Amino acid sequence: MIMRPSRRDLLKAGIGIGASLAFPSASLYAATASLIQRKIPSTGESLPIIGIGTARRYEAVRTEAERAPLREVLRQFTALGGKVVDTAPSYGTAEAVVGDLVTDLAIREALFIATKLGARGRDAGAEQLEQSFKRLRTPRIDLVAVHNLQDTQTQLRALRQWKQADRIRYVGITTSFDRQYPEFEQTMKAEMLDFIQVDYALDNRKADQRILPLAADRGMGVMINLPFGRGRLFTAVQGKSLPPWAEEFDCVTWAQFFLKYIVSHPAVTCTVPGTAKAEYLLDNLGAARGRLPDAAMRRRMERFIDAL
Ligand SMILES: NC(=O)c1ccc[n+]([C@@H]2O[C@H](COP(=O)([O-])OP(=O)(O)OC[C@H]3O[C@@H](n4cnc5c(N)ncnc54)[C@H](OP(=O)(O)O)[C@@H]3O)[C@@H](O)[C@H]2O)c1
Repeated sequence: MIMRPSRRDLLKAGIGIGASLAFPSASLYAATASLIQRKIPSTGESLPIIGIGTARRYEAVRTEAERAPLREVLRQFTALGGKVVDTAPSYGTAEAVVGDLVTDLAIREALFIATKLGARGRDAGAEQLEQSFKRLRTPRIDLVAVHNLQDTQTQLRALRQWKQADRIRYVGITTSFDRQYPEFEQTMKAEMLDFIQVDYALDNRKADQRILPLAADRGMGVMINLPFGRGRLFTAVQGKSLPPWAEEFDCVTWAQFFLKYIVSHPAVTCTVPGTAKAEYLLDNLGAARGRLPDAAMRRRMERFIDAL
């Protein structure tokens, strides 16, 4: 059953009543119930299944007016129990914006910050990572993943040394390109990795053929990028109502439909939807509450999207 939070509960969570009235009751429910967690296989540390991605909307932020909504997103995210923030040195201003806002809000301890390394050669990699520490304004980064398999072996070797020195906590690799999947799988087989990050969405399910089962076999955490295929899934359902059976897994918006599909895959640890608006944050966190679709329901969701 979806419980409606009281005005007092919402205020306690720091959610403005004016903004919250614009959302369906189940999104408001997101403000008070705790977020579903999954364990990182290599350590057993728990993470909430919905995080935040910072590509694009955090990339060209210059003015206070541009920062203000992002500050509000990060403030509400941590107030509601969110942890995982994914960024990269190649996302323009994103790392610096995250670092500044996290420092202003004094929320570093509450967060799990993931960034990437996209450089060729050991020196260039070290230089880039030092810059990430400075921009993120933190002495320790939770996860650093080799971005899109750039110079993977050299950078993984270096990242392991940073991990040994306790400057980073977890090591991984990322991709969002099908053409990299064979090399990605090879790397997963050959290397010990805490995390992989890969694209996976209700209408883009290639990763579940081999990569997701392999991650489960190898005991690797899985962070999913592009959960909406940027705008693609929203465009596919434009003008359409949610099927009534979405209620069976406590889903009241399309964003929750797409996200609950992803996080109900047993190999998935979390996903990082690009989130730059507080209204989207509340909506997306709703996917980390209530029931998740079971295997049969997941097939039904696939048939639904494939038929559009
Ligand atoms: N190779 C890699 O390592 C790699 C590659 C790609 C992405 N990533 C990571 O994955 C993250 C996610 O990818 P992405 O941000 O490109 O795409 P995405 O998460 O699939 O989609 C983001 C889009 O969804 C919209 N959105 C978010 N929440 C919504 C909601 N509740 N209702 C309606 N629309 C909503 C946003 O709208 P607005 O534009 O209006 O805000 C944005 O345009 C990135 O931010 C990045 O951290 C990593």
